[in-house]
Amino acid sequence: MNILITGCAGFIGYSLSVKLLKKKNVNIIGFDNLNKFYSVNLKKKRLSILKKNKNFKYFKIDLTNKKQLSKLFNEKKIDVVFHFAAQAGVRYVSSHPEKFIQSNILGFHNLIDTSKNYNIKKFFYASSSSVYGDLNNFPVGENSKLRPKNIYGLSKKLNEEYLEINSNKKTKYIGLRFFTVYGEWGRPDMLILKYLTFAKKNKTLFLNNSGNHWRDFTYINDVTNILCRLINKNFNKNEIYNVCSNRPILIKNLISYLNEKTGYNKIKNVSGNNLEVFKTHGKNSKIRRKVNFSKYSNFNKSVDSTIKWFKKYNHLI
Ligand SMILES: NC(=O)c1ccc[n+]([C@@H]2O[C@H](COP(=O)([O-])OP(=O)(O)OC[C@H]3O[C@@H](n4cnc5c(N)ncnc54)[C@H](O)[C@@H]3O)[C@@H](O)[C@H]2O)c1
Repeated sequence: MNILITGCAGFIGYSLSVKLLKKKNVNIIGFDNLNKFYSVNLKKKRLSILKKNKNFKYFKIDLTNKKQLSKLFNEKKIDVVFHFAAQAGVRYVSSHPEKFIQSNILGFHNLIDTSKNYNIKKFFYASSSSVYGDLNNFPVGENSKLRPKNIYGLSKKLNEEYLEINSNKKTKYIGLRFFTVYGEWGRPDMLILKYLTFAKKNKTLFLNNSGNHWRDFTYINDVTNILCRLINKNFNKNEIYNVCSNRPILIKNLISYLNEKTGYNKIKNVSGNNLEVFKTHGKNSKIRRKVNFSKYSNFNKSVDSTIKWFKKYNHLI
C-alpha cells in the first residue's frame, strides 16, 4: 500500500510515519516544505530518522505549488492520503494570518483538486478541536455547533465544509479533529515542550489566564494507534471524528506537576487572550467504536516519557 503523508517532518506526520513503516507492505511517500514556524533542526532530525527506512521517500514540496503536487501524483501511485501539512499554532494567528490562508485554505484546495484525478481510496485530513470555539456543553460531540474563535479554527472549519460541497465520490474524505496532541518529538510551541524549554533556559514563562483553562490532552501514541487502525476500516461516506482523550486537564494542575518534576517555577500569571478557548473537552465514542480502541495512556506517565525525551533531544529545539 502506498501512503502519502503530507507534513511528514512535522510532529504527527513523523510519528505516524514511524509507526506505519514498522508494518509489512507499506510504502510511505512523504512531503513537507520544512517551514520555519519552529526549529528546522528538529524537523530535519525527524526526516533523517525516516530516511533510514528504504520504504520511505521524501519530497520537498509546498502545498501552494500545484505543479509540484501534480508531478508527485503523476509519478507515484497513491492509495491512501494523510494530510497533516498546515500552518498550526493558534498564537501565530495574530502575527502571520496570511500563512493560515495560504497553506490551510489555498494549499488544502490544491491538494484536494490535484488528488481527485487519481484513484485515492481514503483521504484522511487533520482538522482541529479549534473548530468548536467556546462552547458551554461538554464533552463536545462531532455534531456540536462550530464557532471558531480565530483564523486557524476557521481554516479547519472551511476544510470540512469545502468537502461537503466539493468532493470526489470515488474517495472517502475523513476529517480528524485532533485535541492538544503531546508527547515525544512534539511541537516546541505547545505548552509541555515550551515549559521544558523555558525551564532549561531558566527564563520566565508567562502563563495565560493564570492556567485556569482546560485542555483535552491526547498522547501521540494513542493518536497513531487510532490512525493505524483507521486505515483498514471501510467508510460508506465522508466522516468527521474527534480524536481526543475525553479527559480535560486543568493547565494549573499540569504546571504544578511539571514544577514538581523539574524543580523550575519561574511562572508569571497573566490574563487570557481572546484567541484561545477556555476549555476543550471532546467526546470520543464515535472514534472508539469505529476502531475498537479504549486503552488511552496514563497522562502522568506520558508526560514523564515526554520529559525524558526532552532531556535527550532538547539541543534540537
Ligand atoms: N498537534 C496538535 O495538537 C494538533 C491539534 C489539532 C490539529 N492539528 C493539526 O494536525 C496537523 C499536524 O499538526 P502537527 O502538530 O504535526 O504540526 P507540525 O507543524 O509539527 O506539522 C506540520 C508540518 O507541515 C509542514 N507544512 C506547513 N505548511 C506547509 C506547506 N504549505 N507545504 C508543505 N508543508 C507544509 C510544516 O513544515 C510541518 O513540518 C496540522 O494540520 C494541525 O493543524 C494538530
